[in-house]
Amino acid sequence: MSGEKILVIDDSPEILTLFSECLRAEGYEVDTSVDGSTGIEMIEKKAYDLILTDMKMPSIDGMKVLEFALNHSPESICIILTGYGTVKNAVEAIKAGAFDYLTKPVKMDEILVSLKRALDYRNLKMENLNLKNQLKKKYRFENIIGDHERIQKVFEIVEKVADTDSTILILGDSGTGKELIAKAIHYNSYRRDRPFVPVNCAAIPSELLESELFGHEKGAFTNAIRTRIGRFELANGGTVFLDEIGDMNPLLQSKLLRVLQERQFERVGAVKTIKTDIRIIAATHQDLKVAVAQKKFREDLYYRLNVIPIRIPPLRERKSDIPLLVHHFLEHFNRSKKKRIRAFSDEAMEALVRYDWPGNVRELENTVERVVILVDHDLIAAQDLPEKFHLLPEPEPAQVLEIPEEGISLDTAVNEFERNLILQALVKTGWVKNKAARLLNLNRTTLIEKIKRQNLQRPDN
Ligand SMILES: Nc1ncnc2c1ncn2[C@@H]1O[C@H](COP(=O)(O)OP(=O)(O)OP(=O)(O)O)[C@@H](O)[C@H]1O
Ligand SMILES: [Mg+2]
Repeated sequence: MSGEKILVIDDSPEILTLFSECLRAEGYEVDTSVDGSTGIEMIEKKAYDLILTDMKMPSIDGMKVLEFALNHSPESICIILTGYGTVKNAVEAIKAGAFDYLTKPVKMDEILVSLKRALDYRNLKMENLNLKNQLKKKYRFENIIGDHERIQKVFEIVEKVADTDSTILILGDSGTGKELIAKAIHYNSYRRDRPFVPVNCAAIPSELLESELFGHEKGAFTNAIRTRIGRFELANGGTVFLDEIGDMNPLLQSKLLRVLQERQFERVGAVKTIKTDIRIIAATHQDLKVAVAQKKFREDLYYRLNVIPIRIPPLRERKSDIPLLVHHFLEHFNRSKKKRIRAFSDEAMEALVRYDWPGNVRELENTVERVVILVDHDLIAAQDLPEKFHLLPEPEPAQVLEIPEEGISLDTAVNEFERNLILQALVKTGWVKNKAARLLNLNRTTLIEKIKRQNLQRPDN
């Protein structure tokens, strides 16, 4: 992009002339200032993309200009110009928030490279910011990323139901964002200043879950040394998030049904009935209809919970969101890990988009975090990604084999052909054998046998 606005501040008129001539020749729009205080006034009046300031200047020095720019013009990127022997100050400036420093005497070609890099970084940052602001405005749900039609449908429902008291059932595979959506609903409801209380029904042993939810009276059972308030009571006025509801045992299911119908319950071992004002959001990765058919889940409870179902699609069914999410997490981890990784290369992004993400957004988030920690250069290449993303060599096009004079082993040829197809199916599905089997129209056990026979192993990741 040319026409970017650059401000150069330096107390040497020769340097200013040199810079403005060279930078204009490159297509930049250049303003100059011969002292720090005029420079600051100019920053106040005009939005610069890049500010290049000398460090040592009479009265107001480069450090002060930098401080001012960081506070008043955070969208500008700053570079410090410094003489030999004052590199220590330059390092201070970087710590304070300058993007880079350049040493005098100036070498114009080096400077142009550095400016270009700084502007690229800045533009990417602004793009991400704009993207985020747009989403924020549109859905009001900060940090929930997704542009795909199916996830937008989810946002629409969330927006409609947030500020009501309706019970909500969130359905989706592991890592698709069920808890994130539950929180978005709570924090966009009139209950937002009251507690959001999550309970993971699968993680708490069922004999403890009852007293966890309802509380207990002192002496209600052997270990009940004192009275305990349960989560339904703690959440009064707020929202209870019942995660993995499909794992709740039948006895508790009927007690929960009563809470949903009457908004009242008793602590374990108590006679007094407690009324509670809570909204319930439940979530599961299971197919509750199947659980109902198998008599593992109460049908009446299912209908009570299923007032407003929200189905979050798995990431592989909204692959166009992958780059958005990658940018989002890159920005996030750059900030939290104090790194400055600029982007993923096209090949790296392609590999990420091609992958099937059995662990959904959580797996993607973990992948980006890992890469940000391990990589020290500023553009992430495909080789920087864990092994599971590496491309298999392109499969050989199906060939019509000609039988050579000396003959051919049919078994070996067929075997190789089979091995190649199985490997492709496994890579395509992120080594989820059910899915790979479906792709190959095999049943799972047959596929597993073949994998064993072919001695195929998932690469470490
Ligand atoms: N659309 C999204 N935008 C940004 N981050 C997301 C999005 N969806 C999920 N995440 C992030 O992915 C991670 C997993 O999400 P969350 O814990 O809500 O998933 P889950 O469906 O509850 O998973 P599990 O079933 O394993 O409990 C979280 O760190 C969450 O912030
Ligand atoms: Mg969860």
